[in-house]
Amino acid sequence: MTETSNSPMGLDNLDALAASLPVQLSAASPPPLLQPQPEAGPSRLRAADKWLKPHGPPVGIAFGGGCWERKRTDHVELPDDFSERAEEIMERHRSSPVSADIRDDYNERPAWYWNKFYSNHKEAFFKDRSWLRLEFPELVACTEADAGPKVCLEVGCGAGNTVYPLLDKNENPDLVIHATDYSAEAVGVVKANRMYPKPAHGKGIIHASVWDITSKPSPPPSSSPSTDGVHPARTFSLPEGVEPGTVDVLTVIYVLSALHPTEWDQAIHNLYSALKPGGLLLIRDYGRHDLAQLRIKKDRLLDPAVPNLYIRGDGTRVYFFTKQELRGMLEAKPRTTSGGLSVPNSEEEGRRDQDQGPMFEVNQLGEDRRLLVNRKERLKMYRIWMQVKARKLGPNGEGATV
Ligand SMILES: C[S@@+](CC[C@H](N)C(=O)[O-])C[C@H]1O[C@@H](n2cnc3c(N)ncnc32)[C@H](O)[C@@H]1O
Repeated sequence: MTETSNSPMGLDNLDALAASLPVQLSAASPPPLLQPQPEAGPSRLRAADKWLKPHGPPVGIAFGGGCWERKRTDHVELPDDFSERAEEIMERHRSSPVSADIRDDYNERPAWYWNKFYSNHKEAFFKDRSWLRLEFPELVACTEADAGPKVCLEVGCGAGNTVYPLLDKNENPDLVIHATDYSAEAVGVVKANRMYPKPAHGKGIIHASVWDITSKPSPPPSSSPSTDGVHPARTFSLPEGVEPGTVDVLTVIYVLSALHPTEWDQAIHNLYSALKPGGLLLIRDYGRHDLAQLRIKKDRLLDPAVPNLYIRGDGTRVYFFTKQELRGMLEAKPRTTSGGLSVPNSEEEGRRDQDQGPMFEVNQLGEDRRLLVNRKERLKMYRIWMQVKARKLGPNGEGATV
């Protein structure tokens, strides 16, 4: 990997990156947005730490006020001029996008690049996700002995970094986990786990399958008439073994960022169709102007017409979200439906049901911001992640939090 690769596996060649960056702190110039991270120490890993730096960021000891006394501070405010300065970097991205002759390949076969990624890094992944308990207690609650029958679906499961820690500690005999990814290599890693399909303690079960979150039903709705003449044909696609309206908790962790914005609509429609009314969608992903975005250099913006979508050095795509974008996706009205299934013909397919409320009630839409500093260099770096918890609403608002 090169320092421009922005690899999901690590912030590589940080010295080279530092050398290439123009900024040092002085009275005349404010601290830079982008600088190298200090070396890693033990840490409470979160998902993006793993993807961006395998050993996680350093954890400083808090010994007084002021950001320079801590190597890392959670829940920070951004400096007043942060957006303005980040936009200057974005402008540089826009001025040197990926060359048009190779752009289409990244969009036409994205799974190929993820397959390559997993075949290169099979062993490098497995990390203990202790942060799941802190950030997503609703997911962990499904593993409690008295939780009752629960169906969890993990989309874009990768090597199983969320599903296996859950299954390992599971005490619920009635827990069913579906783990899906469009990379057959990733699904192969999940299936090769010693806990597949049932852990040795015998509680719970896992099914893994290849599935593209953006997929449309096959055959398309316009050519697939209702089979019983009453119910319309589907306009959504679901993973093998998942019935519509049956999932209690659905996790999508650093996956939506791998999609092209034109794919968001179908993806959310599919997730909505999998969940039961009141079912919970949990999302964690990259935020706009995250360090991972600002450190990207030239020739990585995939298309000047699609801001904030980049290609990493290994060919995988990455998008950086705002809260408004995520809210817009989730609070859109559902597609026109009848009897719980979407209306079959292709003209109707994209139409929204104006009589209905939003698809989801957004219970949490947070920006998790962490400041990392290099005291020696007096440098600041901001990690920005998005975290969402949203409940599926039924046609009459069923499922809303009371
Ligand atoms: C950054 S990794 C995150 C993996 C896992 N969620 C985790 O946190 O460890 C992104 C994953 O999303 C998968 N992915 C990307 N686009 C997808 C799509 N359209 N459908 C299903 N999986 C997808 C990739 O294959 C990859 O495994």
